[in-house]
Amino acid sequence: MLNTLFHDKKLIHLQEIDSTNEYAKSLIKALSYVSEGTTIVAENQIHGRGQMGSSWESNPCQNLTFSVILSPKILVADQFQISKIIALALVNLLNQLGIKNISIKWPNDIYVKEKKIAGILIENILKNNKIEHTIVGIGLNVNQVDFTTKNATSLQLITSQTYDLNILLANFLEILERTYFLLKSNQHTFINEAYLKNLLGFQKERNFSTSTAQFKAIITGVSSMGKLQLQKDEQLMEMDIKEITFL
Ligand code: BTN
Repeated sequence: MLNTLFHDKKLIHLQEIDSTNEYAKSLIKALSYVSEGTTIVAENQIHGRGQMGSSWESNPCQNLTFSVILSPKILVADQFQISKIIALALVNLLNQLGIKNISIKWPNDIYVKEKKIAGILIENILKNNKIEHTIVGIGLNVNQVDFTTKNATSLQLITSQTYDLNILLANFLEILERTYFLLKSNQHTFINEAYLKNLLGFQKERNFSTSTAQFKAIITGVSSMGKLQLQKDEQLMEMDIKEITFL
């Protein structure tokens, strides 16, 4: 089964598009069958979307902005497993490139030291209580060296090297096939342990804020729906991304 999950994948290379996630959605709507691993990559994404209604800015031809279509057919209740294996694939790619100090900032931002190098936007299409299709949108900062947001970084800023975007994408898809296999073969314990091992602040006391308070708490885990599990004094709590900010 390994190395055959994406056997029929297509690579759709676009010069300019509003959002590769939107393009992937229309492809799924238009076609009766889309093979797993089909990837839409854009040289210039003009309305790139981020998490929680934000936008994703990326200079044309300098970074990777792409979406991968998967059909995991797992229960909606297990949806965060998808986020985990995507984040792990990005961590593995950066490891392979020799990058140090990589971490996953809950829920699925990829950081190098204190700065964000990649973002993930996952959108699910459901059928009954299962995930029929997942659109995995990824923005990875590669050769861009100036950013409007001060907490962004890129591969080139870290290593002073220029990267070939096509080679990088091919490497990523190969790694993703392996981490996706972990999900397909129900290796949940392995996935969970690998995710927590790379999770920023796991088992450490961190500062958080909600709409009403700021407090310190220890991250104890992440639920299968992706809620952050915290221990604040003696109290255990689960927080949704909309309810809490990780400072
Ligand atoms: C985030 O960190 O807020 C998620 C950013 C996700 C950006 C990628 S770029 C390719 C894909 N298409 C989009 O419109 N967004 C995702």
